Amino acid sequence: MPKALLTIADYRKAARKILPRMAWDYFRSGSDGQTLLARNRAAWDAIELRPCVMVDVSTVDPSTTVLGLKLPFPALIAPMAYQKLAHKDGELAVARAAAACGVPCVVSTMATTSLEDIAQVPGPKWFQLYCHKDRAITEDLIHRAEAAGYTALVVTADAPVLGRRIADERNGFELPKGMTRENLARYERPMGGSGSGSHLSELFRTRQDAALNWRDLDWIRSLTRLPILLKGVLRPDDARRAVEAGCAGVIVSNHGGRQCDAAIATARALPEVAAEVGGKIAVLADGAIEWGNDILRALALGADAVLIGRPVLWGLAVAGRAGVKAVLDLYREDFTRAMQLCGCARVADARGLA
Ligand code: GLV
Repeated sequence: MPKALLTIADYRKAARKILPRMAWDYFRSGSDGQTLLARNRAAWDAIELRPCVMVDVSTVDPSTTVLGLKLPFPALIAPMAYQKLAHKDGELAVARAAAACGVPCVVSTMATTSLEDIAQVPGPKWFQLYCHKDRAITEDLIHRAEAAGYTALVVTADAPVLGRRIADERNGFELPKGMTRENLARYERPMGGSGSGSHLSELFRTRQDAALNWRDLDWIRSLTRLPILLKGVLRPDDARRAVEAGCAGVIVSNHGGRQCDAAIATARALPEVAAEVGGKIAVLADGAIEWGNDILRALALGADAVLIGRPVLWGLAVAGRAGVKAVLDLYREDFTRAMQLCGCARVADARGLA
């Protein structure tokens, strides 16, 4: 990787130069006035740690285990749609880099490569599920994911409708010719709609199930042996319901600031959710995690691991598989140094830092 790429912000700037406007806007945008993008970031910055001194950190172990998965450091790759918009090798490049680093990836329903093809790449993977109005499609996706060897389902709970992304509307965002939602292609009928604005928004309006509720979670559970994580939980009462509903984990997330722009920043929601869950199920968090310190902060606030989203796409845009690997290596090294500077020899030591 070029020497100039030292931080996630460097990768973001480099990706911006490379990506076509429509793709950059789609990946980078938040919803509405986009206040949450900055608030997510600022909320991590506001968390002060209390480093321990005089601890032997000559060797530290950044690895951990989440839901039986051994992670080289406490992070997974977040589900993100349309990765071929970032690089022609798309999801396969991300999955290969993830496998090389031992980092699990969460594959999106909206992938531009089929979940079956991605599953051919070795390494642990979870499948992110958007619940369709047409329940036969939802059911088929779950069965396909299980058959292909995915080891958990991540049910997105914060997208009954799509958040309004103004830039996508202005750009008339749609996939370029030749790129398709490979997981859904077999079910797709031509889309009606106005012919203007964001096609993703139109797709959500016509296909996704805005009626999704706790009863549906029971239905989803009845269809699969896979553990279920609920993504988009920001309140302790919802976290409690997720525990009661038999979820294996919750993901404290506001969809990278892309859904409700007024939502609480994840770093602020996390401690309340973690306290309510009380270790009964796994707690993961995402949203503007850019430094090793942010991973440490999330652990200190009660998370078991984080999800890394857009920075993976910046690495992908910059150099395909090698760029994603470089970004993951950067996080691992940065997190290891953060552990050393805070006197944590093991990941479990992070709990006392906040
Ligand atoms: C899709 O999940 C998106 O947030 O664009």
